[in-house]
Amino acid sequence: MIGGGTGRGRWAEWIAGSNDVTGHFLKAASQPGFVSLAGGLPAAELYPVDAVAAASARALARWGGAALEYGPCEGFPALRSAIAERISRATGGTFHAEHVLLTTGAMQGLDLLGKALVDPGDLIVAQFPTYLGALDAWRPRMPRYERLSWDPDRANPDEQLRAAKFVYAVPNFSNPTGVLVPQHQRAALLERVVRSGSWLVEDDPYLVLQLDDPVGPGLLELDVAERGAGPYDGPVVYCGTLSKSIAPGLRIGWMVGEPELIRMLALAKQCSDLSSSMFTHAVALELLEARVEDAHIPAILSCYRERRDAMHDVLTAELGKWFSGERPSGGMFFWLEARRGAIDTDALYHRALREGVAFVPSSVFDPHGELRTGMRLNFTRNEPDVMAEGVRRLARAVRGYLSEET
Ligand SMILES: Cc1ncc(COP(=O)(O)O)c(C=O)c1O
Repeated sequence: MIGGGTGRGRWAEWIAGSNDVTGHFLKAASQPGFVSLAGGLPAAELYPVDAVAAASARALARWGGAALEYGPCEGFPALRSAIAERISRATGGTFHAEHVLLTTGAMQGLDLLGKALVDPGDLIVAQFPTYLGALDAWRPRMPRYERLSWDPDRANPDEQLRAAKFVYAVPNFSNPTGVLVPQHQRAALLERVVRSGSWLVEDDPYLVLQLDDPVGPGLLELDVAERGAGPYDGPVVYCGTLSKSIAPGLRIGWMVGEPELIRMLALAKQCSDLSSSMFTHAVALELLEARVEDAHIPAILSCYRERRDAMHDVLTAELGKWFSGERPSGGMFFWLEARRGAIDTDALYHRALREGVAFVPSSVFDPHGELRTGMRLNFTRNEPDVMAEGVRRLARAVRGYLSEET
């Protein structure tokens, strides 16, 4: 039990509601021979190490000590402008540096949104199940949650959207479900949120991981098309990152939104860390100018396609009797649900760890911790034979679980 009592150990109220699943599986994964299908991690052998080394040398030669200073809270100015140009190109809109806040990964952007917008008890309408990192980021703010419905026939009522501090959505290959939200549902949601006057947060780390067909416009691009020319002043707050297209260790993320919101988020960032690392910003600028992603992404996609298909085959063969799920068309995850709700994945998780494999149980993606029959499995990190071994271990854990239950 965390919290309570007197003297030391009287932690803040929100900590009592936090979970240690991430730390737990990261620790388990460091044991030799353990197979982790849990983390949302890229294939580490594909990180463009030589390109990053060369970019680091160029950044220091170009900027000298300026790359080693404290910097502006909003980020290295030249990278801010480069991201503004990238977003303008991608959406057809008009974005300037003042529309961009550079963050320590997209994760910090989520944290700052909570800081800038949410007081205890405030409402967030969030895609369900919800990205664990977002729930973690907002936990200290102690919000209330309602489920976002993408289905126009069962849309969230207007007054609920109006009451929300923001709506949180991951339309491209959601974490944890891998779902790609269809275009007509995106457009319908955008229209409703615009009408409500709330913010619409589009968290988009998996945009680059399109394994099958092109995904079509995101929420920001749809809104730009509605609004037409002129500097962007709409309700969409877009979160991007280099974590999936280059490497997560760079911790380069960005928030894009109307300038007044960006100023508020920058204030919140100032309270968190003064500024991000100017050095990694200068390195990222070199990587973008050298178009490293253009060479790197095709290699990632062909590796992930093969891994996804291998994982699909082994999941169907080993777990198909007990779990159902779709083959994702991008991103990093399979999402499985127990047939007839017959398996409690929180209980299965501990048994799986004993078998030497980890997945992420569905309860951590539910703000109320009640979703107990699903699991998220990563297909990008491990070689196909390692994943297959992990899934066989998982099947053993299921058999053990079921024999004990009956
Ligand atoms: C939906 C979602 N948002 C944000 C992030 C954080 O990404 P970053 O590495 O840029 O902090 C992740 C990471 O996996 C994610 O899945």
